[in-house]
Amino acid sequence: MLRTHTCGELSMQQNGMEVKLCGWIQKSRDLGGMTFIDLRDRYGITQLVFNMDSNAELCNEARKLNREYVVRIAGKVTERSSKNLKIPTGEIEILVEQLEVLNVSETPPFTIEENTDGGDELRMKYRYLDLRRPSVRANLELRHQLASLIRNFLDGEKFIEVETPVLIKSTPEGARDFVVPSRVHNGQFYALPQSPQTFKQLLMVAGFDRYYQIVKCFRDEDLRADRQPEFTQIDCEMSFIEQEDILKTFEGLIKHLFKKVKNMDMPMLPRMTYAHAMKNYGNDKPDTRFEMCIRELKSKDTPLQLPAGKFKLFDEAEYTAGIVATGCATYTRKQLDELTEWVKRPQIGAGGMVYIRYNTDGTIKSSIDKFYTEEELRKAIQNMGAAEGDLVLILSGSESKTQKALSELRLEMGNRMGLRDRNTYSCLWVVDFPLLEWNEESKRFHAMHHPFTSPKPEDVNLLESAPGEVRANAYDLVINGVEIGGGSIRIFDKKLQSKMFEILGFTPEKSMEQFGFLLNAFHYGAPPHGGLAFGFDRLCALFGGSDSIRDFIAFPKNNAARDIMIDAPSFIEKEQLSELGLSITNR
Ligand code: AMO
Repeated sequence: MLRTHTCGELSMQQNGMEVKLCGWIQKSRDLGGMTFIDLRDRYGITQLVFNMDSNAELCNEARKLNREYVVRIAGKVTERSSKNLKIPTGEIEILVEQLEVLNVSETPPFTIEENTDGGDELRMKYRYLDLRRPSVRANLELRHQLASLIRNFLDGEKFIEVETPVLIKSTPEGARDFVVPSRVHNGQFYALPQSPQTFKQLLMVAGFDRYYQIVKCFRDEDLRADRQPEFTQIDCEMSFIEQEDILKTFEGLIKHLFKKVKNMDMPMLPRMTYAHAMKNYGNDKPDTRFEMCIRELKSKDTPLQLPAGKFKLFDEAEYTAGIVATGCATYTRKQLDELTEWVKRPQIGAGGMVYIRYNTDGTIKSSIDKFYTEEELRKAIQNMGAAEGDLVLILSGSESKTQKALSELRLEMGNRMGLRDRNTYSCLWVVDFPLLEWNEESKRFHAMHHPFTSPKPEDVNLLESAPGEVRANAYDLVINGVEIGGGSIRIFDKKLQSKMFEILGFTPEKSMEQFGFLLNAFHYGAPPHGGLAFGFDRLCALFGGSDSIRDFIAFPKNNAARDIMIDAPSFIEKEQLSELGLSITNR
């Protein structure tokens, strides 16, 4: 070993000991007769001292060292005169006796410190330098800790990890596939898996009983803070179980992680139906850290809760609903105008916003004063749960668009009111998802989760007559408004699976061509089975207190799906293209 200790472990216990350390120069300071250097490695920072009086030659050598040089030193641990109790090694320093430069470094393009001056793109281009920053490294250490806790837990529950292939077959359902051209079979393509879904089901047919895999998945979809084109799932499947067993098992995993990582005792995870989530939160992944639920003034089942014939917008809208922001009646006109502009942004999509202030003196001031009396408005907002001092914000329009906009407005108000604390965690299962959703573009039903999800037995008779009303044995784990995972109880009957493909618009020939391997497997004794997958990157970001999964991936892609460090994707040589039977003309 080139060193006796790391830069994070020496303390007064080793006072007087001769040690050897290796690391990178974090920074140096010359103070007259002394030079101080912070030496950094993965484990921490140790202060080095060079003394002009005792060794001028060495001290002069030290003064030539630049940031990020790699050095090895030998010296004696001594007590510091001015201690830094903020770091574990802050009581000592090393009086250096020998110095060896192992490698020099150019000045890095950004400072390798917590508050770095490097922008996102620059840090991604030099990701290996960004990874030297302690907070980024801590994120990957957290990722490692979570992965090992998950493996231990699942191992204890008799799950076995099985690797499934990465070069598979393209399927028309779900997101867009990334495809890989075959050289041996020109004109044919593999697809990279969007998830190992069918393979884990085949492992159940094979009798593996309990499978898991921490596995890379690939989806060619629009990127967001919580989406990467390649991401990692904790993918799980179990046989001879019902939905309840899955929820209990993985609730156990989540509780285990919170206990071990955060020392928090999570209560039983509440369950909420999809219908309840949509009605009250406008969203199938509600942030339940705070209430501020959506209250309807008019919907399919509720007539307008204000007198009719007075305000055309409310009279004519399919849906009108709002939220009550407790204690916000003091919002100024300026703040409300700004909020109105905010909801009108294309990402939110509302046409406008109605506000009603319920002042602490009991008076009402609203943007619809000229249409309704104070008494009418007071009654309506009291029914929505508003009290004196509150502000009511109302949106109106088509149900689905308005629910979505209200959901965003609710989250925004939650932010502005400080109700979304990163150190508070609110977990729940959302259950009873619809099996199918209508797609206007393709004019057909699509599977809401995936085509292998089973309908609730009591709803199977609706498959022909009212497919849109069939509920699925599907569930999502939601934490703080983030969809952390999702899964379902699968169809294991060949006939029902074929029926499902038919509803999704597959001819029998097409479903055999695409999924014949699974349908055939169902001829040979498939057990009842089900499972789920957690988004591992999202789980890490959640535990690390960040919205962006990129911070928890060693080498992530940017928002344009590029790896700007290695410069991928990139063009390939003509010869390679022709070997693959491909040609690109518009290069
Ligand atoms: P699903 O498509 O819901 O289910 O994915 C499971 C979880 O994976 C995470 N996730 C992502 N994370 C980062 N970037 C992405 N692009 C991305 N897409 C999804 C989410 C999501 O909840 N085979 C099924 C699971 C099953 O039924 O067992 C599946 O893949 O956290």
